[in-house]
Formats: sequence, C-alpha cells, structure tokens
Amino acid sequence: MADNDEQTGGLILVVDDQPLNVELLEADLIEHGYDVLSAYDGKSALEKVASDRPDLILLDVMMPEMDGFEVCRRLKSDPETMLVPIVMVTALSEKADRIKGIEAGVDDFLTKPYDRQELQARVRSLLRVKFYTDELERAETVISSLAISVEAKDSYTESHCRRLSYYSVQVGRMFNLPHEQLRALRLGGTLHDVGKIGIPDAILNKKGKLTPEEFDTMRQHPMIGYNICKPLRSLRYVLPIIRHHHERFDGSGYPDGLAGEDIELTARILTVVDVYDALRTERPYKPAFDKEKSLAILDEEMKKGWYDPEVLDKFRSLELENI
Ligand SMILES: [Fe+2]
Repeated sequence: MADNDEQTGGLILVVDDQPLNVELLEADLIEHGYDVLSAYDGKSALEKVASDRPDLILLDVMMPEMDGFEVCRRLKSDPETMLVPIVMVTALSEKADRIKGIEAGVDDFLTKPYDRQELQARVRSLLRVKFYTDELERAETVISSLAISVEAKDSYTESHCRRLSYYSVQVGRMFNLPHEQLRALRLGGTLHDVGKIGIPDAILNKKGKLTPEEFDTMRQHPMIGYNICKPLRSLRYVLPIIRHHHERFDGSGYPDGLAGEDIELTARILTVVDVYDALRTERPYKPAFDKEKSLAILDEEMKKGWYDPEVLDKFRSLELENI
C-alpha cells in the first residue's frame, strides 16, 4: 500500500456500452496514473473481472442484455470478487434507482455528466480502502500459512486444526456466543499454536519427557503466537485464545496464571477441545487413547481444577464419534 495518495495507482475497469463514454473516463484515469481496462457489456465485464482482477470498477447502469445492477449483484455475491469496489456511473438521479443500486451492493455513485474532480476523489478514496483490505487479507494469509507449517513441524495433521475449529465452534454455539467469538474459535483452531514456529524441532518432537529447561522453552509458545498476531486488528478476538489456551481454571496454568472467568470463555473452550484431541491422537511421547479413556482423563484433570466444568459438560454432550 502506498503512503501517498498520488502514488497509489491501481487497475480500473470501465464498463459502458457507449465507446465514447469509455474513452472519456479512460483518458481522465490514465492522466492520473491509473491503468485502465474496458468492457462494453455486462458479460464481458464479468469475464474481465475474473481474468484481470481490477482494483475498482466504474460501471454504467443502462446496458443491453445484462444491466449494471445485475453485473453488480453477481460480483457482490461471489466471495472472490465481493471486495472489489464498484462505482455506478449513471445519468439516473432517481431515488428509486439509487436504492436499487445500493441493494445490488454498489459502493458509490457518480452522476453523468460527471465532475472530473469528483471522479478522482471517489476513485482515490475507494482504492485506499481496497488496498487496505488487500493488505489485511495478505497478512492473515501469511499467518495462516505459518500456522499450517507449524502443524507440519509438530507432526500433527491438518485434520487436527479442522477438528479443533469444528468442535470449539459447536461448544461456543451452546453458550450462545456472538458471531465474532464463534469466528475467533474457528480461527483459533488453526492459529492457537502458531507460536510453536519459535520452538526448536528437537523440543517439539522429542520422544519422552522434556527437561525442565526444555519445558520452559515450550511454555513460551502462547506468548510468541500472541506477539505474532497482535498487530492484526482483524485477529483481536483470537488473541485471548492464542495467549490463554494453556491457562488452567484453578490458576495453575501459563503464561499468565489466570483463573476462572478471568480466562476468556473462548480460551477455556479451546483448551478442553485441544487436550481431548491430543489425547485421542498418537504423539511422539504417547499412543492414541480411545474416546472413553480420553474423557476419563479429562474428568480426572477437571476434578484437579484444570478445566471449566461447564465447558467440559457441554463438550461431553457433543457427538464425539468422529473426533
Ligand atoms: Fe498450545
């Protein structure tokens, strides 16, 4: 992302069935340093979006066959293209058409004949948002790949993450957690151990007991993961899961020694699911236990005060055959 508006640039798709209109917009945009693609009907506009991935679309409404509203609706309902901003360029100033445009997902309007300064201002501000969203998406992707490479390093399989996400979200639903907390649980299944990227393989995959020094190193992974993900605002609800999934309900866990409800509910949930899945899986230092034995061990540890009894209760009520 460029810091300076004048250096932003970007690829803009201009869609209009009147070649003269396209030429005018094109000339204005090129003059301001943008790259421009053009399409003269709805169908080829959709094809250009798929093949060239423009950063912004200037879209005419009145076109034969597929009109601008329909093009917009299709792009906004496809997860691949829904974040590409669309400016509807229209001669229509009718309120009903504006509402139709808003309902189709249009991000902004420009009325024909358009004002050149207004065009530049709208394009600039929408591109700024687009580049910011791209940046965030890239950062999240990098962190997720990191987490997946940790999984490989840790000799766990990808299915461990999937199971963790799936069961944590199910328990979260039983607590009627709001949408952003359920999303955090889903992401937490993949990201909670991302800090293991900073732990040597020799310790991660050691067969047999860790020495006290090795265990001290291992115990740093929640804080390392927390520090990796902290700069990303979109991951703010996942941070407590990453940092506190090794806390215990009685305060005897790490890294902060939090107890009871001072540990976020999402973290208390992931802890139980994570331990259960570890018990059910073969690890370098232990065989895979069956469902009954795993639940019995969890019960014993709950009696020692390690887990939230209500969370364990809800977890036990799930259909656990596939985990
Ligand atoms: Fe962990």
